[in-house]
Amino acid sequence: MSVEPAGGPLVELRDVNKHFGALHVLRDINLSVARGEVVVVIGPSGSGKSTLCRTINRLETIDSGTIAVDGHPLPAEGKELARLRADVGMVFQAFNLFAHKTVLQNVTLGPVKAKGVKKSEAEKTAMELLDRVGVADQARKLPAQLSGGQQQRVAIARALAMKPKVMLFDEPTSALDPEMINEVLEVMIGLAHDGMTMIVVTHEMGFARRAANRVVFMDAGSIVEEATPEEFFTNAQSDRARDFLSKILTH
Ligand SMILES: Nc1ncnc2c1ncn2[C@@H]1O[C@H](COP(=O)(O)OP(=O)(O)OP(=O)(O)O)[C@@H](O)[C@H]1O
Ligand SMILES: [Mg+2]
Repeated sequence: MSVEPAGGPLVELRDVNKHFGALHVLRDINLSVARGEVVVVIGPSGSGKSTLCRTINRLETIDSGTIAVDGHPLPAEGKELARLRADVGMVFQAFNLFAHKTVLQNVTLGPVKAKGVKKSEAEKTAMELLDRVGVADQARKLPAQLSGGQQQRVAIARALAMKPKVMLFDEPTSALDPEMINEVLEVMIGLAHDGMTMIVVTHEMGFARRAANRVVFMDAGSIVEEATPEEFFTNAQSDRARDFLSKILTH
């Protein structure tokens, strides 16, 4: 039993259901993420992990249930939605940087356009963030001039520039060459240690063990099992989780 800190969970999904046509992709999802908690979501391809992330910042609508961020239910649209979306930073597998803008511009664009931050101030913050993720020396380059690992770190800095309350990561290292995976994971572990609330879809067990408070295992649209990383990786309870682990552990 975990005790919720004052202020309640930062992210709370209650009885969330989502269909794509006839396909029931999220089934009665209940998930509470506390402030400062790091939750790793794992599960087979097609189990609904990306869809779950996308509903939390309202890139996808839900059919029933509720999602609240910091106590506020996600509004349908308008200014309120934009504000809540800014509370939820997202980093995808594909870095999705603006190709024709410099690294620095990629990081300042959101704060300047969406939050009305002065350009000089946005640039100062951006340089601090780029320094934090280890790519300050790349600020004047275009994304294509950076390695995949560097681009993904810029994407993290860009998300952080909006001062989100929670960061969602959807397989942030799965498009990277092996030697670049660690540099991105190190940045994420640093964020976790600094107290950022994070929901991370990843099969990187090293990250889960070092940074996660909890592992959530999804299969066929349902949360099948939740446990600490240690419990989950050594003593999964469900057949589906054990079957899944036997596949990823042997590769
Ligand atoms: N826009 C969409 N329209 C129709 N079906 C979709 C759409 N997006 C996802 N799906 C389907 O919903 C299910 C869940 O997809 P989702 O991308 O959330 O899975 P996932 O767990 O992230 O898988 P992966 O590990 O391959 O990334 C899959 O069956 C997928 O084909
Ligand atoms: Mg996915």
